[in-house]
Amino acid sequence: MIKKFLFVLISALSLSFLTSTCSDDLDHGNGTAKQLQLELPQVPYDYAKFSELPAHIKENDFVRLAFLSNEPGKLFPTFPEEENPKVTDHGATLGRVLFYDPRLSLNNSIACANCHHQEKAFADGKVISPGFENKMTFRNSMAINNPALMSNLFWDSRRQSVKDMTLNPIKDHIEMGMEDMDYLTTKLSKFDFYPSLFKNAYGSTEITENRIADALAQFICSMTSFNSKFDQNQTNGFSGFTSMELLGKSVFESKGNCLACHGGVNFDQTSINGGGGYEGDFSFSATANTGLKLTTDLGRNGRGLFKIPSLRNIALTAPYMHDGRFANLEEVIEHYDHGVQLNPNLSDPLIDGNTGKAVKLDLSNIEKKALVAFLQTLTDEKFIKEAKFSNPFK
Ligand code: HEC
Ligand code: HEC
Repeated sequence: MIKKFLFVLISALSLSFLTSTCSDDLDHGNGTAKQLQLELPQVPYDYAKFSELPAHIKENDFVRLAFLSNEPGKLFPTFPEEENPKVTDHGATLGRVLFYDPRLSLNNSIACANCHHQEKAFADGKVISPGFENKMTFRNSMAINNPALMSNLFWDSRRQSVKDMTLNPIKDHIEMGMEDMDYLTTKLSKFDFYPSLFKNAYGSTEITENRIADALAQFICSMTSFNSKFDQNQTNGFSGFTSMELLGKSVFESKGNCLACHGGVNFDQTSINGGGGYEGDFSFSATANTGLKLTTDLGRNGRGLFKIPSLRNIALTAPYMHDGRFANLEEVIEHYDHGVQLNPNLSDPLIDGNTGKAVKLDLSNIEKKALVAFLQTLTDEKFIKEAKFSNPFK
């Protein structure tokens, strides 16, 4: 049995941080910030060891670099050392607390977890999401799928490093409204548990903007999801797959040509050995134009390019695409089947080499159903239930 530390927040203490605009529920609608109790295991969860990764993942050079070495300078080999979070158990524990704490937003109403729900592989099921003062996000909230493997974050791939990215949503007016990081560091230092969590993670109680970003990055980088039915069937020649799932796998790889973009261990191209660039030549790019009819959001460089999202846990993360336009996987597949619009920036695999027109896949009803069945094998039930990624506030 795990012994728990209980940190009880005294109501008077947190009340003094509430602004007059704060009438929202502070804890996902179940209670208020003044009653949040932090429950952490006495011995921190194991975030830093990636020994449980299945063999087919460990064998991949790119993954080995990102996870197994786990040394500064190696996680993202091309980035400056200070941008490489080194995941430690105490650092990621602090990151977990920060991720779930609504006090990171200006009016104590929005935590990262408001838009990133564990049971939905950290997407949130909404087309666009309400943030600070109910302003809506511009795009669909994203699942978090092995971000330590990614060198392109956000729908327009505008960030290359997880650490560079984590301070963004806190400061963003629409998402969390916390512009003044000095205000935030002072605010956090007033709680009895934060100084000790910072001390465990960094050796001193000092709370800085850089440490907040680093701890969040450590927590996010520790999120590994490699335990789907697809992963479990790697070593047995997919003998555990139904005939529909097998048909779907074959459509995904050949007739549907999905693999051309959603390739590699993370189904997003960035995890292919030697790949992972984020612009330039398409074959090394993790962005693509999928021939969606665009209204206002022109994506990267105004060419309708968007990040190639990972398809891990895809069955949990509806609605789909950068603008959440498709309510379910069937609609996404209808788009690829016959809805792709020809445009000058349309990415190669979606252009018919013979006619120069947008590809029409002409999938049968059975093939479409099979493709959905295959995509459902990418769900990792363990990841979405793992206690170490769950809300530590009870
Ligand atoms: C109000 C909702 C909201 C909040 C709060 C929020 N996010 Fe997000 N998150 C989004 C949206 C929307 C996107 C996509 C944004 C875009 O592409 O412009 C996103 C993207 C991301 C991504 C990129 C995933 C990828 O594959 O590229 C990560 C990682 C992430 N958020 C982590 C966080 C963290 C950490 C916090 C808290 C510090 C946070 N988010 C707070 C809505 C939110
Ligand atoms: C040319 C590259 C390319 C090909 C080929 C491709 N995709 Fe995609 N896929 C993308 C990009 C880029 C996006 C994001 C597009 C957007 O948001 O505007 C995407 C989005 C998706 C999504 C939604 C992901 C999410 O998180 O919302 C699914 C599901 C998907 N693709 C499945 C498939 C399947 C199945 C096939 C084969 C029939 C396929 N893709 C072929 C590049 C591609």
